[in-house]
Amino acid sequence: MNLIHQPLVSALHLLPKPLVKPFAMHYIAGEKLDDAVRVVRTLNAKKMMATLDVLGENISTREESLMAVRACEKVLHAIHEHRLNATLSVKLTQFGLKIDEEFCTSNVKNLLEIARGHGNFVRIDMEDSTATSATLNLYERLRSGGFENVGVVIQACLRRSEEDIKRFLPLKVNVRLCKGAYVEPETIAFKSRDEIRSNYLRLLKMLLDARCYVGIATHDEVLVQSAIQTLQENHLEKTCYEFQMLHGVKMALRAKIVGDGHRLRVYVPFGEQWYAYSMRRFKENPQLAWTVLRALVYRN
Ligand code: FDA
Repeated sequence: MNLIHQPLVSALHLLPKPLVKPFAMHYIAGEKLDDAVRVVRTLNAKKMMATLDVLGENISTREESLMAVRACEKVLHAIHEHRLNATLSVKLTQFGLKIDEEFCTSNVKNLLEIARGHGNFVRIDMEDSTATSATLNLYERLRSGGFENVGVVIQACLRRSEEDIKRFLPLKVNVRLCKGAYVEPETIAFKSRDEIRSNYLRLLKMLLDARCYVGIATHDEVLVQSAIQTLQENHLEKTCYEFQMLHGVKMALRAKIVGDGHRLRVYVPFGEQWYAYSMRRFKENPQLAWTVLRALVYRN
């Protein structure tokens, strides 16, 4: 975000939530599970897969964590019942990672059992760097405990990611590779766009060379093009990887990727706690933030 955009996003924070809501819904399926099911059906009809995310942040009690687990269980059952081509994405802090790691592990195991029963898969999202080690350690424990239906996320902006990938290659890890959504200090993170892009491509090549399944999660057209070139050079089958994009972002690019015959999954968040998530999306797309403010000014 540059210096012009900062005050713009701050201005959005001052607006009452009901005014922001219609614009936030551009990135979110809706508040209810039924809304998410409807959106996934539409995506599936367009030959796009989905992964569902129940929105929720800043969980600080075991009771809240258990409520989040129940909500995720319902998602897994709904995917099965409605025969959707969709998986589940979760954040470990929602399940109590920062309250008690054993409690969190047991919550995730419960979900993985349900997912396994339905032949489904759960992706553990990556949060900020205060959670990286704990998240990767828990993932490793799940894999050594016999869970194969679980994947992890690696952030190309982090300097540690190359070592993390080397550690997980022998497990034939299923990775979503993204740039990283959190502002991290330069001591641990690459800062320039070029450094992040080149690390992204280095990590992608490491994963593909080791025949790990990769979710190529980016809307950056330069990265998408370079990734396609790498895939072609490696003569990879289209079942060895997928592209991933966020709901509501770069619709033309995602249609082109699918039209060219690649698999693509859309990350579909839903739930009542839509506000914090949509503010992060506005930050990443100042153009939309302008649209929100302009629409509010001109409607009066
Ligand atoms: P970049 O930010 O350069 O964007 C490329 C282009 O896409 C720009 O033109 C931009 O305008 C547009 N664009 C990008 N984001 C947009 C948005 N929100 N709205 C509108 N336009 C947008 N991060 C993380 O730390 N942990 C995680 O678990 C995940 N999970 C995840 C799943 C999926 C499916 C995706 C696609 C991304 C994530 N991310 C994530 C987020 C990721 O780390 C990163 O912050 C964003 O994808 C933006 O980076 P890009 O690679 O898209 O490039």
